[in-house]
Amino acid sequence: MIVIIDFGSQFNQLIARRVRECRVYCHIEAPTITAEQIQALEPEGIILSGGPASIYEKNSPRVDSDIFNLGIPILGICYGTHFMVDSLGGKVKKANKREYGFATLKTKTAKGLFAGIEKETVTWMSHGDSIQSLPKGFTVTASTDNTKVAAMANTKKKFFGVQFHPEVAHTVKGTKIIRNFLFDICGCKPSWTMKSFAGDAVDQIRRQVGDKKVILGLSGGVDSSVTALLIHQAIGKNLTCIFVDNGLLRKNEATQLKEKLKNHLQINIRFVRASTRFIKALHQVSDPERKRKIIGKIFMEVFESEALKIKNADFLAQGTLYPDIIESQSAFGGPTSVIKSHHNVGGLPKKMKLKLVEPLKFLFKDEVRKLGKTLELDDDLVWRQPFPGPGLAIRIIGEITKKRLNILREVDAVLQEEIRAAGYYRKLWQSFAVLLPIKSVGIMGDGRTYENIVAIRAVTSKDAMTADWAKLPHKLLGIISNRIINEVRGVNRVVYDISSKPPSTIEWE
Ligand code: XMP
Repeated sequence: MIVIIDFGSQFNQLIARRVRECRVYCHIEAPTITAEQIQALEPEGIILSGGPASIYEKNSPRVDSDIFNLGIPILGICYGTHFMVDSLGGKVKKANKREYGFATLKTKTAKGLFAGIEKETVTWMSHGDSIQSLPKGFTVTASTDNTKVAAMANTKKKFFGVQFHPEVAHTVKGTKIIRNFLFDICGCKPSWTMKSFAGDAVDQIRRQVGDKKVILGLSGGVDSSVTALLIHQAIGKNLTCIFVDNGLLRKNEATQLKEKLKNHLQINIRFVRASTRFIKALHQVSDPERKRKIIGKIFMEVFESEALKIKNADFLAQGTLYPDIIESQSAFGGPTSVIKSHHNVGGLPKKMKLKLVEPLKFLFKDEVRKLGKTLELDDDLVWRQPFPGPGLAIRIIGEITKKRLNILREVDAVLQEEIRAAGYYRKLWQSFAVLLPIKSVGIMGDGRTYENIVAIRAVTSKDAMTADWAKLPHKLLGIISNRIINEVRGVNRVVYDISSKPPSTIEWE
């Protein structure tokens, strides 16, 4: 495996992704990790990431410089290279000219990182500092017009540094450079597969949990379903899942889940019907934040009282993913972690002192989907679009009533059917309907109508941090609109949301 030291670059997840795409396993670690701890992980190589700080600043992040004595190959990227230079006796200074964007790299060697790479290749730069003098034993291996030391190497020690970012797609031969580091320099083997990950994860769960009991909150989304499947493989009946029907779900959602996970896979699931309690508490509540708070609070109460019925439970399983972990521990954890916090389900049941089991915590979303496929999870669950915890409550603008919930459910069902039929379901990050709190005039048959308006929202996205409104074909939009107005009583107008995130959010509330 490879250890990546996180100096706070916005591209750190990309480094991890590139390494894993080469089928080599990797971890991102905070700079507080010691050389000894790194050694214990037995990595074949270390990558020092980029970061927003300047190495000559007072509190710039540093990792234990004993890593240079471990005999492990090291690749520095941007700030990571500056750290290497500074630690080994070279000098980094503010550059005369900031270099940002594309730059043509002129290589001086066809070995090491640059084996099989043309003499001139396009790279992507983002730096305000540059290397003034190299540490002993290093040579310059590439330059650009603005940057004399665009890459350096100490081949004897297998230390390499680049000023550009090989992990971003704009660096044309970036993946090749990373492959050269992993396979030629570190001697890694491309042996990491989802199957091997699943096997390791099952062993790890067995070791952690032993013959104790585990509780899991099942939402119907891919993360919690895959978590359930993995833990079920490890400990079978000692896993109990709790599914809370809050009355804010989509049409047939609870039934489908029951069919797929409980009946088909024999997973132990308790279905708690609590819709009346939720809907009562939401009576006459229009404010989005209040809606979220009420739903979160009741969810915890219901979940906790159900969990307390399970005797001798020592563990709580969660489908936490890697991006959540990275964001909360990043050396420069910026505002992103704050924006996201409200999306995570609100904490642990307090009365029970449960330990956490998080088998997906080193995976990205698409890797979770691959894992789901490896575990033979039903395709419908593997490819399910994300659905927010507060459910349809935040898609009914204004007051929530049973009647309005039913209207939205029917609209949503028609929409999903058409999106799937047109082959768009998997291409979209999300597609859903929003019920608006205004009515408009229409005409149906010979009569005047005065009914609800629904908005259709469909977006493409990689991670929900940014999103584009989907350019769905007009013909498809026409079919959707027609069917909704004809088939769902209470709706006489359909509009399409053409806003991207930012500045809009994906959900309306
Ligand atoms: P926004 O609306 O902030 O949403 O652009 C980004 C992503 O997060 C989902 N979302 C939530 N998920 N609980 C959740 O579990 C929530 O309260 C919540 N709010 C938004 C949203 O569906 C989108 O995928």
